[in-house]
Amino acid sequence: MTAAIDPWLIYDSPQVAWGPHPSQIEILDSPARHRVWCAGRRTGKSEFGGHVLLPECLASRVLPDDWAKKGKRREFWIVGDEYVTAEKEFRVIWNLIKHLGIPMDKGSHYAIDGKSQSVISCWGGNFKVVTQSAKYPDNLVGEALCGVLMVEAAKSKQSTWQKYIRPMLNDYGGWSIHTSTPEGKNHFYDKFEMGQDPYQKEWASWRMPAWRNHFVYTETGRDIAAGRLPADTPIPVAEMTVDAHVKVLLNEMENSPSTSAATVIRPGAVPLIVVQRAVRRPVGL
Ligand SMILES: Nc1ncnc2c1ncn2[C@@H]1O[C@H](COP(=O)(O)OP(=O)(O)O)[C@@H](O)[C@H]1O
Ligand SMILES: [Mg+2]
Repeated sequence: MTAAIDPWLIYDSPQVAWGPHPSQIEILDSPARHRVWCAGRRTGKSEFGGHVLLPECLASRVLPDDWAKKGKRREFWIVGDEYVTAEKEFRVIWNLIKHLGIPMDKGSHYAIDGKSQSVISCWGGNFKVVTQSAKYPDNLVGEALCGVLMVEAAKSKQSTWQKYIRPMLNDYGGWSIHTSTPEGKNHFYDKFEMGQDPYQKEWASWRMPAWRNHFVYTETGRDIAAGRLPADTPIPVAEMTVDAHVKVLLNEMENSPSTSAATVIRPGAVPLIVVQRAVRRPVGL
């Protein structure tokens, strides 16, 4: 065992001051060993994945004596269908480590073009983050892993997880996080289903709409993300979209296929959603 660190102490510290949005908080707080997050683009999956690795970095500073004796280290992989996919999460943890002034060991490097492997090593090799591409299965064998981010998981083959990665988590009881936009009923869908199955105790899954990321989908949130407002600025309720309103909007569009713009009104309140480009294009010829 390594020193247990409460991730919230790190996220809330003034140096990091990371404020996850509600979807990210829900997944961070889940005790499940294997977590599956199915969500659209710009939901905050990469931001989340990179931040999950930060407490792991700090927890690896000092390892138990017997680990050092055996040359064991705490290694984490970011596995994408290509290196460039894994680079998104890598960039987040790389920048965090740089920002905090944690010294990186020789050999750490960031392939910014995403064409090859990127590596972070800290604390004399105690902690490692390595990007991997599912295109090169020969590279997918190595040390035991403490955790893995399977990013854009639906784009990799089933065997990437099943045959290569999963066995590497066995030694240390490592965790996995699978994030992706959905791609039909493939293996990622199966993992999502496992997460919903109450008998699969180690798995949990979430499906959340992208608009829950208020750093992208509200004005105040965008100002916070751009550093124009302090991180703890509350988001005005009127700027937030909520599930019920999206359902009303979808219904509205279903009932009148010609709808090209819709305003969904909360009873007695201000308009909440104004969709300008909800143009329904005819499908087929
Ligand atoms: N908790 C957060 N705090 C600040 N910005 C965030 C947060 N989560 C996501 N973002 C921002 O939202 C945008 C989309 O996030 P990203 O992680 O790239 O989404 P995804 O990987 O789901 O496409 C990025 O600009 C990211 O920096
Ligand atoms: Mg991403």
